[in-house]
Amino acid sequence: MAVKDAEHTSEEEEEEEAGEPLPPPPKTLKARQSISAEAYGMWNQKTAFTPPTYAKTPEQMERLRSILSNSFLFKQLDDKDMNVVLLAMKEVMFAPGSRIITEGEDGNHLFVIEEGHPECKKFIDGELKVVKQCNPGDVFGELALLYNNPRAATVDATDMCHCWELDRETFNQIVKDSATRTWQRWDDFLKSVELFRHMDQYQRAHISDALKLECYKQGEYITRQGEPGNTFYILEEGSCVAVKVAHEGAAPEVVMEYRTPGDYFGELALLKDQPRAASCVVTSPEAKVLALDRKSFKKMLGPLEDFLTKHAEEYK
Ligand code: CMP
Ligand code: CMP
Repeated sequence: MAVKDAEHTSEEEEEEEAGEPLPPPPKTLKARQSISAEAYGMWNQKTAFTPPTYAKTPEQMERLRSILSNSFLFKQLDDKDMNVVLLAMKEVMFAPGSRIITEGEDGNHLFVIEEGHPECKKFIDGELKVVKQCNPGDVFGELALLYNNPRAATVDATDMCHCWELDRETFNQIVKDSATRTWQRWDDFLKSVELFRHMDQYQRAHISDALKLECYKQGEYITRQGEPGNTFYILEEGSCVAVKVAHEGAAPEVVMEYRTPGDYFGELALLKDQPRAASCVVTSPEAKVLALDRKSFKKMLGPLEDFLTKHAEEYK
C-alpha cells in the first residue's frame, strides 16, 4: 500500500481533544467565487503585488516551514510560494490575558502559533463560551480572510503566545486560491458521496482535510477479519470486496462488493469497538481509497452514527 498524501492535521486532533463542535458554516460561503474567472484573472496579474518581507534566521524559517507544511491551508503551496509566505510572516507576541481577536470585528490577519495556547470563545445563548483551546502549530483567524466575514470568534491569550501573523493581501494573492482549489477538488467528490450529502461545505472541508489517500494493488488486503481496525475507508477509484468467514473452518464468502466511488467500509470496528468483521480485498488492478482515522471519524461522522449503524444492520 502506498500513502500518497498525508492530509491529517494536528489542528484536527487538538479540536478533537478539546471536544468542541465544528465551527458553524460561514454565513456567506464565498469559496466558489474565489475561483471564478475574475479571481483567476487577478491571480494571473500578480505584478502589482509586493509581499512584505520580514527577515528571519534560517532556524526560524525552518521551524515555521515545518509548522506550515502541516497546516491545511498552507501544505499544498509549492516551494516558491511557501518561501514568499514564510518571509511575509511577522513575529508577534501576546501577553497572557490580552485580546488577539474580537468577534464581530473586521480582520486583516491570520495567525500561526509557535508557542502558547490561546482560547477561542463565542457567544452562545448569550454566554461567552470557550469553543477551542489552540495549541502550537494551529492556525487561527483564517475564517475572516477565507470568507470575507467579520471575525467569527474572540481569541484571547491565556499564556505568553508567540505567533506569526500573515496579512490579508499576501493570503489572498498566494494562499487563498490554492487552498480553495484543493478544497474544491475534494468537495466535488465528497458532495457526490451519499454519506456526506447533507453536510455543509464547511464540514466537508474539515473532512477532506482529514482524509488520507491510500493506494492498493489487486489482491491486497485493506482490512483483515479479526484484526483491530482504526480506519474508515471511502472508495475513490477501483473496486474491492468484503470477504467473511462465518465461523472457524467455514469457507470465506464474499459478502459485499464495492465498485462505485463513494462506497465505504470499515465503519463497524469504529462504531462498535470490535475487531474487523470482514476482510476487504482489492479486486481491480489498483484501488484508491480515502482513509479517515478513528479520531476524525468519531468527531466528524459522529452525527452520522445512526445512519451508519442502521446501514450496517443490512449486512449478511
Ligand atoms: P476568524 O473568524 O477569522 O477569527 C476568529 C477565529 O477563531 C476564527 O477565524 C477561527 O480561526 C477560530 N475559531 C476556532 N473555533 C471556532 C469556532 N467554533 N467558530 C468560529 N471560529 C472559531
Ligand atoms: P469493519 O468490521 O470495520 O471492517 C470490515 C468491513 O467490511 C466492515 O467494517 C463493513 O464495513 C464491511 N462489511 C461488508 N459486509 C459485511 C458483512 N456482511 N459483515 C461484516 N462486515 C461487512
